[in-house]
Amino acid sequence: MLYRTLGRTGLKVSLLGVGTGGPSNFGQRSGVPEADIHRLVQRALEVGVNIFDTAAGYRDSEAILGRALQGVPRDRYYLATKFTPERDDEVVTPADVVESVERSLTRLQTDFVEVLQFHGVRPQRYHAVMERLLPAVLKLRDQGKCRWIGITEQYGEDGAHEMLQMALADNHFATAMVGYNMLNQSADNLVYPQCLEHNVGVFIMFAVRRVLATTDRLEQTIADLQKRGLVAPNALPDRQPLDWLIRGNVDSVPSAAYKFTAMHPAVSSVLSGTANLTHFEHNLRALEEPTLPEADHARLQKLFGHIVESIGN
Ligand SMILES: NC(=O)c1ccc[n+]([C@@H]2O[C@H](COP(=O)([O-])OP(=O)(O)OC[C@H]3O[C@@H](n4cnc5c(N)ncnc54)[C@H](OP(=O)(O)O)[C@@H]3O)[C@@H](O)[C@H]2O)c1
Repeated sequence: MLYRTLGRTGLKVSLLGVGTGGPSNFGQRSGVPEADIHRLVQRALEVGVNIFDTAAGYRDSEAILGRALQGVPRDRYYLATKFTPERDDEVVTPADVVESVERSLTRLQTDFVEVLQFHGVRPQRYHAVMERLLPAVLKLRDQGKCRWIGITEQYGEDGAHEMLQMALADNHFATAMVGYNMLNQSADNLVYPQCLEHNVGVFIMFAVRRVLATTDRLEQTIADLQKRGLVAPNALPDRQPLDWLIRGNVDSVPSAAYKFTAMHPAVSSVLSGTANLTHFEHNLRALEEPTLPEADHARLQKLFGHIVESIGN
Protein backbone atom coordinates (compact mmCIF):
# COMPACT_ATOMS: atom_id res chain seq x y z
CA MET A 1 0.00 0.00 0.00
CA LEU A 2 1.18 3.49 -0.78
CA TYR A 3 0.66 6.26 1.77
CA ARG A 4 0.40 9.99 1.30
CA THR A 5 0.26 12.89 3.72
CA LEU A 6 -3.25 14.22 4.30
CA GLY A 7 -2.38 17.89 4.06
CA ARG A 8 -1.84 19.79 7.30
CA THR A 9 -3.17 16.91 9.42
CA GLY A 10 0.18 15.25 8.83
CA LEU A 11 -1.57 11.85 8.88
CA LYS A 12 -0.10 9.30 6.49
CA VAL A 13 -3.21 7.93 4.84
CA SER A 14 -3.46 4.98 2.49
CA LEU A 15 -3.80 5.98 -1.14
CA LEU A 16 -6.78 3.64 -1.33
CA GLY A 17 -9.45 4.66 1.16
CA VAL A 18 -12.72 2.86 1.85
CA GLY A 19 -15.87 4.89 1.19
CA THR A 20 -19.16 3.85 2.74
CA GLY A 21 -21.54 6.00 0.69
CA GLY A 22 -22.00 6.43 -3.06
CA PRO A 23 -24.20 4.14 -5.18
CA SER A 24 -23.33 0.98 -3.23
CA ASN A 25 -23.69 2.68 0.15
CA PHE A 26 -21.55 0.05 1.87
CA GLY A 27 -23.68 -2.69 0.36
CA GLN A 28 -26.95 -1.32 1.70
CA ARG A 29 -28.18 -0.25 -1.72
CA SER A 30 -26.58 -3.10 -3.64
CA GLY A 31 -27.94 -5.79 -1.28
CA VAL A 32 -24.61 -7.07 0.08
CA PRO A 33 -24.93 -8.90 3.42
CA GLU A 34 -23.28 -7.16 6.36
CA ALA A 35 -20.98 -10.16 6.98
CA ASP A 36 -19.47 -9.59 3.50
CA ILE A 37 -18.90 -5.92 4.32
CA HIS A 38 -17.12 -6.95 7.52
CA ARG A 39 -14.88 -9.20 5.40
CA LEU A 40 -14.17 -6.31 3.06
CA VAL A 41 -13.17 -4.09 6.00
CA GLN A 42 -10.95 -6.84 7.45
CA ARG A 43 -9.30 -7.34 4.08
CA ALA A 44 -8.81 -3.58 3.72
CA LEU A 45 -7.05 -3.43 7.09
CA GLU A 46 -4.97 -6.47 6.20
CA VAL A 47 -3.61 -4.80 3.06
CA GLY A 48 -2.89 -1.53 4.85
CA VAL A 49 -5.96 0.64 4.26
CA ASN A 50 -6.08 3.00 7.22
CA ILE A 51 -8.72 5.56 6.22
CA PHE A 52 -12.48 5.01 6.22
CA ASP A 53 -14.91 7.67 5.11
CA THR A 54 -18.49 7.62 6.29
CA ALA A 55 -21.34 10.00 7.16
CA ALA A 56 -24.30 10.43 9.44
CA GLY A 57 -26.41 10.52 6.28
CA TYR A 58 -25.34 7.15 4.83
CA ARG A 59 -28.21 5.14 6.30
CA ASP A 60 -26.55 2.62 8.70
CA SER A 61 -23.02 2.85 7.26
CA GLU A 62 -21.52 4.29 10.44
CA ALA A 63 -23.01 1.53 12.58
CA ILE A 64 -21.92 -1.17 10.12
CA LEU A 65 -18.41 0.28 10.05
CA GLY A 66 -18.36 0.49 13.85
CA ARG A 67 -19.30 -3.19 14.10
CA ALA A 68 -16.78 -4.19 11.41
CA LEU A 69 -14.01 -2.40 13.30
CA GLN A 70 -14.95 -3.80 16.71
CA GLY A 71 -11.86 -5.15 18.43
CA VAL A 72 -9.42 -3.50 16.01
CA PRO A 73 -6.99 -1.26 17.92
CA ARG A 74 -8.08 2.35 17.41
CA ASP A 75 -4.58 3.42 16.36
CA ARG A 76 -4.71 1.15 13.31
CA TYR A 77 -7.16 3.30 11.37
CA TYR A 78 -8.44 6.82 10.85
CA LEU A 79 -12.08 7.79 10.61
CA ALA A 80 -13.62 10.60 8.61
CA THR A 81 -17.31 11.20 9.10
CA LYS A 82 -19.74 13.99 8.21
CA PHE A 83 -22.79 15.80 9.44
CA THR A 84 -25.53 17.14 7.18
CA PRO A 85 -25.58 20.95 7.36
CA GLU A 86 -28.98 21.45 5.70
CA ARG A 87 -32.41 19.92 6.11
CA ASP A 88 -35.49 20.85 4.06
CA ASP A 89 -33.54 23.68 2.46
CA GLU A 90 -32.74 25.23 5.86
CA VAL A 91 -29.39 25.33 7.62
CA VAL A 92 -29.66 23.02 10.65
CA THR A 93 -29.03 24.34 14.17
CA PRO A 94 -25.74 24.04 16.07
CA ALA A 95 -27.57 21.70 18.48
CA ASP A 96 -28.46 19.45 15.51
CA VAL A 97 -24.76 19.22 14.64
CA VAL A 98 -23.79 18.30 18.19
CA GLU A 99 -26.51 15.65 18.28
CA SER A 100 -25.42 14.26 14.91
CA VAL A 101 -21.78 14.04 15.96
CA GLU A 102 -22.65 12.36 19.26
CA ARG A 103 -24.74 9.81 17.37
CA SER A 104 -21.92 9.23 14.87
CA LEU A 105 -19.45 8.56 17.68
CA THR A 106 -21.84 6.12 19.33
CA ARG A 107 -22.47 4.31 16.07
CA LEU A 108 -18.77 4.20 15.25
CA GLN A 109 -18.03 2.99 18.80
CA THR A 110 -15.35 5.61 19.35
CA ASP A 111 -14.74 8.79 21.36
CA PHE A 112 -13.42 10.81 18.46
CA VAL A 113 -12.95 10.86 14.71
CA GLU A 114 -9.87 12.17 13.01
CA VAL A 115 -11.82 14.26 10.49
CA LEU A 116 -15.28 15.77 10.88
CA GLN A 117 -16.62 17.05 7.57
CA PHE A 118 -19.37 19.42 6.53
CA HIS A 119 -21.29 17.16 4.13
CA GLY A 120 -22.11 18.26 0.59
CA VAL A 121 -22.18 22.02 1.10
CA ARG A 122 -23.82 23.87 -1.78
CA PRO A 123 -22.19 27.09 -3.02
CA GLN A 124 -25.28 29.24 -2.49
CA ARG A 125 -25.47 28.08 1.14
CA TYR A 126 -21.78 28.08 1.98
CA HIS A 127 -21.72 31.41 3.84
CA ALA A 128 -24.94 30.78 5.79
CA VAL A 129 -23.71 27.30 6.77
CA MET A 130 -20.38 28.63 8.00
CA GLU A 131 -21.86 31.54 9.87
CA ARG A 132 -24.30 29.34 11.73
CA LEU A 133 -22.36 26.12 12.25
CA LEU A 134 -18.60 26.72 12.20
CA PRO A 135 -18.43 27.94 15.84
CA ALA A 136 -20.18 24.77 17.04
CA VAL A 137 -17.85 22.59 14.99
CA LEU A 138 -14.77 24.37 16.32
CA LYS A 139 -16.10 23.77 19.82
CA LEU A 140 -16.51 20.07 19.08
CA ARG A 141 -12.91 20.03 17.92
CA ASP A 142 -11.79 21.79 21.11
CA GLN A 143 -13.67 19.15 23.10
CA GLY A 144 -11.71 16.44 21.30
CA LYS A 145 -14.64 14.95 19.39
CA CYS A 146 -12.67 15.40 16.19
CA ARG A 147 -9.08 16.30 15.49
CA TRP A 148 -9.54 18.16 12.21
CA ILE A 149 -12.33 19.76 10.22
CA GLY A 150 -12.97 19.04 6.57
CA ILE A 151 -15.55 19.86 3.93
CA THR A 152 -17.10 17.96 1.03
CA GLU A 153 -18.78 19.37 -2.05
CA GLN A 154 -22.19 18.65 -3.55
CA TYR A 155 -20.56 17.41 -6.70
CA GLY A 156 -23.78 16.46 -8.50
CA GLU A 157 -24.81 20.12 -8.78
CA ASP A 158 -21.42 21.81 -8.35
CA GLY A 159 -19.20 20.28 -11.01
CA ALA A 160 -17.27 23.56 -11.23
CA HIS A 161 -16.29 23.33 -7.52
CA GLU A 162 -17.63 26.79 -6.69
CA MET A 163 -18.16 25.93 -3.03
CA LEU A 164 -14.67 24.52 -2.57
CA GLN A 165 -13.16 27.64 -4.08
CA MET A 166 -14.85 29.69 -1.35
CA ALA A 167 -13.91 27.22 1.36
CA LEU A 168 -10.28 27.08 0.31
CA ALA A 169 -10.06 30.87 0.29
CA ASP A 170 -11.43 30.92 3.86
CA ASN A 171 -8.84 28.35 4.88
CA HIS A 172 -10.77 26.83 7.81
CA PHE A 173 -10.38 23.28 6.57
CA ALA A 174 -7.68 20.64 6.83
CA THR A 175 -9.27 18.42 4.17
CA ALA A 176 -11.46 18.76 1.09
CA MET A 177 -13.40 16.01 -0.65
CA VAL A 178 -13.45 16.57 -4.39
CA GLY A 179 -15.42 15.06 -7.25
CA TYR A 180 -12.77 14.20 -9.81
CA ASN A 181 -12.44 11.75 -12.64
CA MET A 182 -11.15 11.35 -16.20
CA LEU A 183 -14.26 13.07 -17.59
CA ASN A 184 -14.21 16.09 -15.29
CA GLN A 185 -10.64 17.07 -14.55
CA SER A 186 -11.53 20.64 -13.65
CA ALA A 187 -10.20 20.32 -10.09
CA ASP A 188 -6.73 20.37 -11.66
CA ASN A 189 -7.07 24.12 -12.17
CA LEU A 190 -9.93 25.09 -9.89
CA VAL A 191 -9.15 23.26 -6.65
CA TYR A 192 -5.77 21.58 -6.40
CA PRO A 193 -3.50 24.63 -6.66
CA GLN A 194 -5.24 26.15 -3.60
CA CYS A 195 -5.09 22.80 -1.76
CA LEU A 196 -1.36 22.64 -2.34
CA GLU A 197 -0.91 26.28 -1.38
CA HIS A 198 -2.87 25.91 1.89
CA ASN A 199 -1.71 22.37 2.65
CA VAL A 200 -5.22 20.91 2.51
CA GLY A 201 -5.53 17.13 2.23
CA VAL A 202 -7.63 15.86 -0.68
CA PHE A 203 -10.01 12.91 -0.67
CA ILE A 204 -11.29 11.85 -4.09
CA MET A 205 -14.87 10.80 -4.72
CA PHE A 206 -16.55 9.93 -8.06
CA ALA A 207 -13.33 8.43 -9.48
CA VAL A 208 -15.33 5.66 -11.16
CA ARG A 209 -18.89 5.90 -9.99
CA ARG A 210 -21.40 4.48 -12.48
CA VAL A 211 -20.23 6.13 -15.67
CA LEU A 212 -16.77 4.57 -15.65
CA ALA A 213 -17.97 1.23 -14.31
CA THR A 214 -20.71 0.62 -16.89
CA THR A 215 -19.92 0.43 -20.61
CA ASP A 216 -23.44 1.43 -21.74
CA ARG A 217 -23.46 4.48 -19.54
CA LEU A 218 -19.98 5.48 -20.67
CA GLU A 219 -20.93 5.12 -24.35
CA GLN A 220 -24.06 7.26 -23.80
CA THR A 221 -22.11 9.90 -21.88
CA ILE A 222 -19.41 10.20 -24.55
CA ALA A 223 -22.06 10.30 -27.30
CA ASP A 224 -23.78 13.12 -25.41
CA LEU A 225 -20.49 15.03 -25.01
CA GLN A 226 -19.92 14.63 -28.75
CA LYS A 227 -23.43 15.83 -29.55
CA ARG A 228 -22.83 18.94 -27.45
CA GLY A 229 -19.50 19.62 -29.17
CA LEU A 230 -17.47 18.95 -26.02
CA VAL A 231 -15.67 15.98 -27.56
CA ALA A 232 -14.71 15.90 -31.25
CA PRO A 233 -17.00 13.61 -33.31
CA ASN A 234 -14.39 11.08 -34.38
CA ALA A 235 -12.09 11.35 -31.39
CA LEU A 236 -13.25 8.06 -29.88
CA PRO A 237 -14.96 4.87 -31.04
CA ASP A 238 -18.73 4.64 -30.42
CA ARG A 239 -18.34 1.28 -28.71
CA GLN A 240 -16.11 0.84 -25.64
CA PRO A 241 -14.73 4.35 -26.13
CA LEU A 242 -12.05 4.16 -23.45
CA ASP A 243 -10.85 0.59 -23.93
CA TRP A 244 -7.63 1.90 -25.52
CA LEU A 245 -6.58 2.62 -21.93
CA ILE A 246 -6.41 -1.11 -21.26
CA ARG A 247 -2.80 -2.09 -21.76
CA GLY A 248 0.25 -2.84 -19.64
CA ASN A 249 -0.74 -2.77 -15.97
CA VAL A 250 -4.16 -1.29 -16.76
CA ASP A 251 -6.62 -4.17 -16.95
CA SER A 252 -9.95 -2.33 -17.09
CA VAL A 253 -11.53 1.11 -17.42
CA PRO A 254 -12.21 1.33 -13.64
CA SER A 255 -8.55 0.49 -13.05
CA ALA A 256 -7.49 3.32 -15.39
CA ALA A 257 -10.00 5.61 -13.69
CA TYR A 258 -8.64 5.07 -10.17
CA LYS A 259 -5.05 5.41 -11.40
CA PHE A 260 -5.90 8.64 -13.22
CA THR A 261 -7.20 10.32 -10.08
CA ALA A 262 -4.17 9.32 -8.02
CA MET A 263 -1.76 10.90 -10.49
CA HIS A 264 -2.30 14.44 -9.28
CA PRO A 265 0.18 15.32 -6.52
CA ALA A 266 -2.47 17.18 -4.50
CA VAL A 267 -4.44 13.96 -4.02
CA SER A 268 -3.99 12.24 -0.65
CA SER A 269 -6.44 9.34 -0.77
CA VAL A 270 -8.75 7.95 -3.46
CA LEU A 271 -11.96 6.69 -1.92
CA SER A 272 -13.37 3.58 -3.47
CA GLY A 273 -17.07 3.15 -2.79
CA THR A 274 -17.16 -0.52 -3.66
CA ALA A 275 -19.08 -3.04 -1.61
CA ASN A 276 -17.77 -5.94 -3.69
CA LEU A 277 -14.67 -7.78 -2.53
CA THR A 278 -13.59 -8.74 -6.06
CA HIS A 279 -13.83 -5.10 -7.12
CA PHE A 280 -11.96 -4.10 -3.99
CA GLU A 281 -9.03 -6.41 -4.87
CA HIS A 282 -9.06 -5.02 -8.39
CA ASN A 283 -9.02 -1.42 -7.14
CA LEU A 284 -6.26 -2.25 -4.71
CA ARG A 285 -4.12 -3.56 -7.58
CA ALA A 286 -4.89 -0.44 -9.61
CA LEU A 287 -3.62 1.85 -6.85
CA GLU A 288 -0.51 -0.20 -6.15
CA GLU A 289 0.91 1.34 -9.33
CA PRO A 290 -0.98 4.60 -9.56
CA THR A 291 0.12 5.85 -12.96
CA LEU A 292 -1.03 5.63 -16.55
CA PRO A 293 1.38 5.72 -19.46
CA GLU A 294 2.29 9.35 -20.06
CA ALA A 295 0.84 9.35 -23.59
CA ASP A 296 -2.51 8.01 -22.35
CA HIS A 297 -2.65 10.56 -19.55
CA ALA A 298 -1.89 13.33 -22.04
CA ARG A 299 -4.59 12.02 -24.40
CA LEU A 300 -7.16 12.05 -21.58
CA GLN A 301 -6.21 15.63 -20.77
CA LYS A 302 -6.57 16.61 -24.41
CA LEU A 303 -9.91 14.82 -24.80
CA PHE A 304 -11.61 15.94 -21.58
CA GLY A 305 -9.40 18.53 -19.85
CA HIS A 306 -11.65 21.44 -20.86
CA ILE A 307 -14.87 19.92 -19.46
CA VAL A 308 -16.19 21.61 -16.33
CA GLU A 309 -19.37 19.83 -15.33
CA SER A 310 -20.49 17.19 -12.96
CA ILE A 311 -20.01 13.91 -14.81
CA GLY A 312 -19.97 10.72 -12.86
CA ASN A 313 -23.38 9.34 -12.06
N1 LIG B 1 -20.62 14.77 -1.07
C1 LIG B 1 -20.00 13.80 -0.42
O1 LIG B 1 -19.55 14.01 0.68
C2 LIG B 1 -19.80 12.46 -1.06
C3 LIG B 1 -20.49 12.12 -2.22
C4 LIG B 1 -20.22 10.89 -2.81
C5 LIG B 1 -19.31 10.02 -2.23
N2 LIG B 1 -18.66 10.36 -1.07
C6 LIG B 1 -17.70 9.45 -0.41
O2 LIG B 1 -16.75 9.04 -1.36
C7 LIG B 1 -16.78 7.61 -1.45
C8 LIG B 1 -16.44 7.18 -2.87
O3 LIG B 1 -17.45 7.69 -3.69
P1 LIG B 1 -18.01 7.07 -5.01
O4 LIG B 1 -19.20 6.28 -4.76
O5 LIG B 1 -18.08 8.22 -5.91
O6 LIG B 1 -16.85 6.03 -5.36
P2 LIG B 1 -16.43 5.25 -6.67
O7 LIG B 1 -15.51 4.25 -6.12
O8 LIG B 1 -16.02 6.13 -7.77
O9 LIG B 1 -17.80 4.59 -7.18
C9 LIG B 1 -18.39 3.52 -6.55
C10 LIG B 1 -19.20 2.75 -7.57
O10 LIG B 1 -18.28 2.16 -8.51
C11 LIG B 1 -18.47 0.76 -8.55
N3 LIG B 1 -17.15 0.13 -8.65
C12 LIG B 1 -16.09 0.36 -7.85
N4 LIG B 1 -15.04 -0.39 -8.25
C13 LIG B 1 -15.44 -1.09 -9.32
C14 LIG B 1 -14.80 -2.03 -10.18
N5 LIG B 1 -13.53 -2.38 -10.01
N6 LIG B 1 -15.53 -2.54 -11.20
C15 LIG B 1 -16.81 -2.19 -11.40
N7 LIG B 1 -17.48 -1.31 -10.61
C16 LIG B 1 -16.79 -0.75 -9.58
C17 LIG B 1 -19.16 0.39 -7.24
O11 LIG B 1 -19.99 -0.73 -7.40
P3 LIG B 1 -19.70 -2.10 -6.56
O12 LIG B 1 -20.09 -1.83 -5.17
O13 LIG B 1 -20.53 -3.08 -7.26
O14 LIG B 1 -18.23 -2.35 -6.72
C18 LIG B 1 -19.99 1.65 -6.95
O15 LIG B 1 -21.24 1.59 -7.61
C19 LIG B 1 -18.17 7.22 -0.98
O16 LIG B 1 -18.26 5.88 -0.60
C20 LIG B 1 -18.36 8.19 0.14
O17 LIG B 1 -17.65 7.72 1.28
C21 LIG B 1 -18.90 11.57 -0.49
